Amino acid sequence: MNSIIKNLLADKKIKIPKHIAIVCDGNGRWAEMKGFPRTFGHKAGTKPIENITRACSKLGVEVLTFYVFSTENWNRSDQEVNFLMKLFTEFFIKLRNEARRNIRVKHIGITDNLSSELINEIKKTETSTENNSGMLLNIALNYGSRCEIVNATKNIVHDIDMENINADKINEDLVSSYMFTSGLPDVDLIIRTSGEMRISNFLLWQSAKAKLWFTKDFWPDFKYDHLEEAIKYYNKVKGCEII
Ligand code: IPE
Ligand code: MG
Repeated sequence: MNSIIKNLLADKKIKIPKHIAIVCDGNGRWAEMKGFPRTFGHKAGTKPIENITRACSKLGVEVLTFYVFSTENWNRSDQEVNFLMKLFTEFFIKLRNEARRNIRVKHIGITDNLSSELINEIKKTETSTENNSGMLLNIALNYGSRCEIVNATKNIVHDIDMENINADKINEDLVSSYMFTSGLPDVDLIIRTSGEMRISNFLLWQSAKAKLWFTKDFWPDFKYDHLEEAIKYYNKVKGCEII
């Protein structure tokens, strides 16, 4: 096991967040800086997703959510969007083949505009990992928090109309149960790379009490050290103040 992960696990004073959510940002700039097309950065960005997934699973994180494509990202060039969709399709197949790691995979977001091939691979991966008892890996793809809240509101109204629930019973827990993250712990720690200090329509309801950690480094350069620093910041360890 990597020594950073080992040390974090050995440090009894460190509390591991139950739910970590990461905005993987800066793939395009990372590639452009090196004189490559943006798509090169997206491809490179899959490596830290795999590494950090493994690390979080070893650390005992319950839920890890990656924001890989927002409902706003459709306004990118067709070429970039098409590349990303192909990459996501391959990624879900890969995740399925890594099921031995006992990780459960779930897609959060809407399926509108996703290709039937991608939807099919997402479903296959979700089904084949649904009985795994380890960490839940949420892939927020075609996700937007406002869209999720609108969707939840519509479903609540529908269930009131159908008399499945009573309007008097609406409370925070009930609203939570209509989110894509139904049944999951709230977000404890949000990490965002590339120096952008924005939330970008990500898990607004779920991260009401989350701590935020930012780094100027681009997502393809995200290493165990970054994860360690973010977790230490979450634990208020001295010397790990925000940049
Ligand atoms: C994040 O990197 C990945 C996706 C949103 C798919 P970006 O593509 O946002 O990279 P920058 O921010 O333009 O550098
Ligand atoms: Mg970006």
